[in-house]
Amino acid sequence: MADEKKLRWGILGTGGIARMLTSDLLVNGFTVAAAGSRSLEKARAFADEFGIPRAHGSYEELVADPEVDIVYVATPHAFHHQDALLALRAGKHALVEKAFTLNAVQAQELADVAADNGLVVLEAMWTRFLPHSVRLREILGAGTIGDVRTVIADHTQSLPQDPAHRIQNLELGGGALLDLGIYPVSFAWDVLGAPASVTAIATKTPTGADRQTSILFGYDSLATAVLTTSLDAAGPNRAAIVGTKGWIEIDRVFYEPTSFTVYATDGTVLERCTSEVTGRGMHFQAAELERLVRAGLTAGDVLPPAESVAILATLDEIRRQIGLAYPGE
Ligand SMILES: NC(=O)c1ccc[n+]([C@@H]2O[C@H](COP(=O)([O-])OP(=O)(O)OC[C@H]3O[C@@H](n4cnc5c(N)ncnc54)[C@H](OP(=O)(O)O)[C@@H]3O)[C@@H](O)[C@H]2O)c1
Repeated sequence: MADEKKLRWGILGTGGIARMLTSDLLVNGFTVAAAGSRSLEKARAFADEFGIPRAHGSYEELVADPEVDIVYVATPHAFHHQDALLALRAGKHALVEKAFTLNAVQAQELADVAADNGLVVLEAMWTRFLPHSVRLREILGAGTIGDVRTVIADHTQSLPQDPAHRIQNLELGGGALLDLGIYPVSFAWDVLGAPASVTAIATKTPTGADRQTSILFGYDSLATAVLTTSLDAAGPNRAAIVGTKGWIEIDRVFYEPTSFTVYATDGTVLERCTSEVTGRGMHFQAAELERLVRAGLTAGDVLPPAESVAILATLDEIRRQIGLAYPGE
């Protein structure tokens, strides 16, 4: 078999999650060619730490680097739209951290620009691509637990209360919903598709970011989803899917590589699924992006850009109900 040309990754923004994805890419045999930061010093330090050959002192230089095929956008939410557009307009595929953008209008523009230019843009909702999620979809597809009636999930953490921290700061897209709540929302979407009705309530932090948001989805199938997220009270971070013939309990932490158990209605264990991954498990989404590029596709089945746009539209509706707008919206 001909040796496939290695696709080369460029890291845009050198913060916490950039560090984690870069580590996962390298331990799993991907090629990271360059790092870009608003500061050349930071870019060099990051590149040196990971043995990355090239460092750029601006995002513009990073996306213009001819040695880069795919850009990983790892900036705060408020900048995903502009930074991903920068990459796409430079002809680069883009993996864009969650939440994909601040709102559906921005998300649609990313999807359109990518499609018009034959490029892949993928939301870095890494959970979708983890081994346990793949097995879950198989089990649900086989009808093992019958018709799904309820999805229950929480993403609750105790995060810094510093008003300047990106989780609190509306200028950076702060709040629990876009940072943490996106996981249960995207999970419910994965299991049940588009909700027919959305109901949400929230409390706020002193900066106006949502501290805790609880969400109910209703579906035409008569299923419901019960979801909650918090940024100052850590909870179980588990999920459950309840069906007419059984249920599935996904162990803590449901959105990271984890295990789950499938039960029949009488409590009999039908399957216990465990998964082992090398590193944190963030490279599975990178493998999907590379697969799409090699296949000449701009959208896969697991998380096409159109679904990221639709999920953002749902988040927009939740934000409308809880009275959360970002500066400039
Ligand atoms: N998948 C996951 O598990 C996961 C976990 C955590 C976060 N995330 C997502 O990753 C994104 C970044 O989060 P993070 O925790 O890595 O944040 P972070 O540690 O604060 O890093 C963000 C980086 O963005 C760049 N940046 C550009 N403009 C900025 C600005 N005005 N203020 C601050 N930083 C700016 C900076 O890089 P330079 O200084 O190098 O330019 C900074 O280091 C968020 O969208 C978040 O939702 C995902």
